[in-house]
Amino acid sequence: MGPQTCDTHHPRRAPDAHRTYGKFAADRPVVVDLAAGVAGGEVVLRRVGADFEIISNGVFLMDTRSGRSERMLVRAALDRHHDPANLLIGGLGAGFSLAEAAAGVPAGGTVSVVELEPAVIGWHRTHLRPYSAGALDDPRVTVICADLLDWLPGGAARFDAICLDIDNGPDWTVTDRNALLYGDDGLDLLAGRLTARGVLAVWSAAAAPAFAARLRARFGDVEVRTVAAPRGEPDVIYLACR
Ligand SMILES: C[S@@+](CC[C@H](N)C(=O)[O-])C[C@H]1O[C@@H](n2cnc3c(N)ncnc32)[C@H](O)[C@@H]1O
Repeated sequence: MGPQTCDTHHPRRAPDAHRTYGKFAADRPVVVDLAAGVAGGEVVLRRVGADFEIISNGVFLMDTRSGRSERMLVRAALDRHHDPANLLIGGLGAGFSLAEAAAGVPAGGTVSVVELEPAVIGWHRTHLRPYSAGALDDPRVTVICADLLDWLPGGAARFDAICLDIDNGPDWTVTDRNALLYGDDGLDLLAGRLTARGVLAVWSAAAAPAFAARLRARFGDVEVRTVAAPRGEPDVIYLACR
């Protein structure tokens, strides 16, 4: 069998887009589990060597190779708030952001994670557990299996930080519906769930200038940070406060 080509979109790690896997069996992706996806299509967990990859609805969402910018998303939000106690994370994925949140919130704090795919949550009991560092067993952590777009308008709790990482960025969403969250109405919804000095942090695999302009129109204080990726375009973290 010749080299295999990954046929999924992979903006999160640009050099791996359409990557050609080597001739060694350890380099080749092996499907570990798959389930019908709530987002559509299938949600797939693949192993490549020592690492895992998550593909949802045909979109390459996440791998476990680094997690640096996903951790920095949370760290940057925590650092921007004087007393961050209650955090909301949109998208569990491989769990790097959750692990950072669990390490960063105080003893009396809470971390709520809203994740669309039941299969992704299940994988944190097995294959992905090392990456969320057992945070699902932390009594401060609550994992909610729901669509963030449905969940946000349904509650009244407010958060000191909302860390949003449900897509590859505002301009590359896993479903068309997710794109609504980065529009004016979506930003109003997110702002409505922040405390007075709350911080909104949004992850993107690439600069999203139109989204940045919308953020600036809606929030008084917007900061754009880039995080160097091993190769290719840097990841981008948008931080916004009133
Ligand atoms: C890129 S991953 C998150 C990566 C995570 N920050 C980490 O540290 O590994 C995106 C996650 O968001 C989930 N997701 C996508 N759309 C969603 C939605 N509308 N509501 C809740 N979760 C969603 C996906 O199933 C996936 O698990």
